[in-house]
Formats: sequence, C-alpha cells, structure tokens
Amino acid sequence: MTAIIEVERLSKRYAKGPLALDEVSLEVREGEILALLGPNGAGKTTLISIICGLVVPTSGTVRVGGHDIRTDWRAARRMIGLVPQEIALEPFEKVAAAVAFTRGLYGAPPDPAWIERVLKSLTLWDKRDTITKALSGGMKRRVLIAKALSHRPRVLFLDEPTAGVDVQLRREMWEVVRELRAEGVTVILTTHYLEEAEEMADRVGVIDKGRLLLLRPTPELMGEFGRKQLTIELDRPLAALPDALAGPGLALSPDGLRITYDYDTRAGRTGIARLLGELAARGIGVRDVATRQSSLEEVFLNLVGGQAA
Ligand SMILES: Nc1ncnc2c1ncn2[C@@H]1O[C@H](COP(=O)(O)OP(=O)(O)OP(=O)(O)O)[C@@H](O)[C@H]1O
Ligand SMILES: [Mg+2]
Repeated sequence: MTAIIEVERLSKRYAKGPLALDEVSLEVREGEILALLGPNGAGKTTLISIICGLVVPTSGTVRVGGHDIRTDWRAARRMIGLVPQEIALEPFEKVAAAVAFTRGLYGAPPDPAWIERVLKSLTLWDKRDTITKALSGGMKRRVLIAKALSHRPRVLFLDEPTAGVDVQLRREMWEVVRELRAEGVTVILTTHYLEEAEEMADRVGVIDKGRLLLLRPTPELMGEFGRKQLTIELDRPLAALPDALAGPGLALSPDGLRITYDYDTRAGRTGIARLLGELAARGIGVRDVATRQSSLEEVFLNLVGGQAA
C-alpha cells in the first residue's frame, strides 16, 4: 500500500509554550485506520492540526497525497476532512445547509446528491432542516462528520470523535468509520478509549510528550505486549508462597487466598502445569482458576507511565 500521508521530523513549539511535537515521523497508508493514543497534552491535536494546515509547524515536512502542505496547500487540503475535537457549529444554521456550506469552503462545486448521501449514511437525513442548536450532542458530532465529508476527502481526521458519546452511539460511529474505510477513505482518529483503538484500528500510534513512542499494527501490539494473568483461588489462606513456588511473575494476595501468575503467552512452556502440580503436592486445595488477557489499556499505561486519562 502506498503512503497517503508522509510526516517527516515534524516539530512544533508554540509561542511561549511547550515543545508540543518533537521530531515526529510517520507514514499513513492509503485505506488504513490509524488510531493515535496519548494522554492529555501529548500532542495529538497539534499533529492533526499541522497536517490539516491549521497550525504552522516549527520544523519538518508533511505531504498529503504527495502534496506538500505548505508549498502545495490547496491540493493537500482538498484531500482532507477534519472532525475537530471541539464541537463548533453555527447554532441557527440548518443541518443540510451547514454541510453544503462547508463543501463550498473547500472550493468544491455544489453536489446535492453527495450531500444527501452523506446525510443519509449518518442518519441525519430526517434532521436536514433542523437547526443545529436543537440537536443532541451525538447528533452534533454526526453533523461535524458530515461537514468533514462534504467535499469527498480521501483522508478523514477524527479528533476524539466519541468523547462524551454514549455506548450505543459510539458503536454506530464505529460502523460509520468502517463504512468509510470500505469506500477507501483513510481514517486517522485520536481517542482516549483504548477499546476504540483495539476495536477499530489497523495500526496504533502512541504519542507522549510530543514524541511518537511507537506505531505498530494493532494485533502485533496486542501480541507482543500480550501477557496473561492466571489467578488461582485457594481454599485456605497461605501465610507465604512456598519456596518451591516462588519465582518471577508469582505473587500471593495480602489475604493469602489468591495466587496470581503473570506469564507470557508466547512462551513455549508457561509453567502452569508445574505450578498446579506443586500446589496439589502440598495439599493446597484450589477453588477456582481464571485467566485474563492484558488489554491494550495495560499496554498503553505501561508505555506512558500510568499517567493516561
Ligand atoms: N495554541 C496553543 N498555544 C500554546 N500551547 C498549546 C496550544 N495548543 C496546544 N498547546 C500545548 O501543546 C501541548 C500539546 O497539546 P495538544 O492539544 O496537541 O494535545 P492532545 O494530545 O491533543 O491532548 P488532549 O488529549 O487533551 O486533546 C500541550 O502542552 C498544550 O498545552
Ligand atoms: Mg487533543
């Protein structure tokens, strides 16, 4: 797959502000869904804003579809749609008019059939003559997406599209994003919901303090950092772990009733059989056994030192 976005050594220092981006380089492939994760203030919105031409970088280059965003900004911008983090809508404007107007802002000629299709795909068609002020928060987000799609962009940026959106609507938004991808639109989204990245993204990038810490295919990330935890409930409390059981990854809960064992799912021998054998040999009864796969959330917290939102 070819790169539709090429970011090279991009840095941004705001006037009197922090170094919001620190030499970030990445490529986004055409047709993929890329999720950017990172704690508050990590630089996600700054990165998106630069690519979309809303913030001027301090150094570095960005190309969209081969067009440099500074020297060839018109062509670059035409390829991009942005759903901003903050909801900003003209309160008394009607939905369809707002979307058509945005299309005009991109210099695209009117195309009522396309606007109708966008509104229908976002289940906004029935609301087309409603003023945006009268819409619920979730519907307002849909209008933002419709506006961002009004000029048929090839790349769609969604800056925390589902913040403050209920579970039902979040799932619907995911569906919308998947449909877009099916049509060949490249999607870059930022999110604080790890579940969202896990569920949606082909690749995940983690940004912290302006640096891109990693950028990897989601399954690979889950697999690589994928550890499992085995919990063994005992039928009576132990004062301490028997010496023969002590080892890396093994711990006894403070009440002595639970042994937890962290192990690597990729290891050929996990040592679980030996562990259970040792317990049986000591006459320690087991009430229950459970395993749990570490989630992307844990992977993420590990990377950014537990300060994520
Ligand atoms: N216009 C600005 N002027 C000065 N500093 C700014 C400006 N915009 C952002 N910053 C700072 O740059 C850093 C990165 O901010 P940014 O909004 O890109 O983070 P973010 O990852 O999008 O965070 P969040 O998850 O909270 O949206 C922060 O320290 C922020 O305070
Ligand atoms: Mg942000």
